[in-house]
Amino acid sequence: MCASVVYQIYLRSFAGGDLAGVTSKLDYLSRLGVDRISLSPVHPSPNVDWGYDVADYYAVHPDYGTVDDLDELIAAARAHNIDVWLDLVPNHTSDQHPWFTERPEFYVWSKTVPNDWTSIFTGKSAWTWHEGRQRYYLHQFAPQQPDLDWWNPGVRDEFDRILRFWFDRGVRGFRIDVAHGIIKDKQLRNRVRYMRNRPEVHEVFARWQVVAAEHDLKPMLMGETYVPLDEMFAYAEHLDLVQNFDFLRAPFTVEALRPIVERTVAGLPANRRPVWFGSNHDHSRMATRWAQGDERKHRAALFLLLTLPGVAILYQGDEIGLEDGLVPKDRIRDLAMPSRDPERTPMPWTRSGGEWQDPWLPLDTTRNVEDSSIVGYTRDLIAQCKALPPDRYETLPSTEGVWAYRRGDATCVLNMAATSRSYGGLRLSPWEGRILEG
Ligand code: GLC
Repeated sequence: MCASVVYQIYLRSFAGGDLAGVTSKLDYLSRLGVDRISLSPVHPSPNVDWGYDVADYYAVHPDYGTVDDLDELIAAARAHNIDVWLDLVPNHTSDQHPWFTERPEFYVWSKTVPNDWTSIFTGKSAWTWHEGRQRYYLHQFAPQQPDLDWWNPGVRDEFDRILRFWFDRGVRGFRIDVAHGIIKDKQLRNRVRYMRNRPEVHEVFARWQVVAAEHDLKPMLMGETYVPLDEMFAYAEHLDLVQNFDFLRAPFTVEALRPIVERTVAGLPANRRPVWFGSNHDHSRMATRWAQGDERKHRAALFLLLTLPGVAILYQGDEIGLEDGLVPKDRIRDLAMPSRDPERTPMPWTRSGGEWQDPWLPLDTTRNVEDSSIVGYTRDLIAQCKALPPDRYETLPSTEGVWAYRRGDATCVLNMAATSRSYGGLRLSPWEGRILEG
């Protein structure tokens, strides 16, 4: 088997914006060839950061349904041979989480501002004054998202419990939010490099693997490892899958992407499979950023994601070439600047768009699943790729603009140029990809 496919679902914008909506689309997902769905955070949240500020790790946000709805989704997905993954947010909680008042020792406090660390969302100091405690607390993100203190063994115990709770309910994996950021320098030294990507973080993942191993079919852990590629490999020691952000952020050219792919397959331990993706809920979609709305180019991007060895993550809408949405200023819901709303607009299922009554972000696109020709291409490609052998990747010599690589007995060739090219007597149209047997 070649690419196994994870399908990322941003719940509020997927199907009716709730869990029952996901259940209703399982036939569609299984026909597409998806092996796993990875849901954005499902938990109660004041939604300062749309679910990434969790107020209760053991419950489901009423907007999305109930824990029963989640159980039902897990069971129905299993009947379709699809695993359900959740999004675990261990770096911080909401300031509305009871721990913030009842277990203040779970957070990072200081009597004075101890260093120059800045918040990713505000660009200002990552320390905010707390009147009640007469101390500053740390937040890498919004002030309403206080960072947990992972040096506190109590925090580690709580997360073991959270993992067990969901694994016991049949959750088969987690995407780990801000995986690289959860441990901070114990001395709180100056410079943001001491706020993230600390070597001690790996002990936490090793511990979670022990919890995962308690289950017969070991659940998977996939890190949002937002670090340069060379630093990503260390995370593969204890995480099953590590997200490759250098690949996501590179321009769509052979020159930029091929060396990243080569370094990735060479750098990962033999027991780990690479992860490829071109879109998520934080970055401009690949149909916009890589393909600039050109369908042929988008198909080339899908070809690449799905024919490389390992795991491909499709973000909802990638399978129809969905581009970033237009979100007028007065409809922006995101707190980050620039806003990430364009990549979070609703999934268009029908020509009329009638399936969305009053969506939280505007539905403004000419694409939809009903009319899409790309969705059939994606489905066929996934089916074809599953027949490829699991062998490692090997670059083959090729002419300029063409990327050729060996996948076991098959050869993949992709014309990454806007003009025709040839490869071994074969004529390739602009952006055309082919899988050649033998
Ligand atoms: C991750 C999420 C992003 C969120 C941030 C803070 O990067 O993907 O959406 O805003 O963490 O939790």
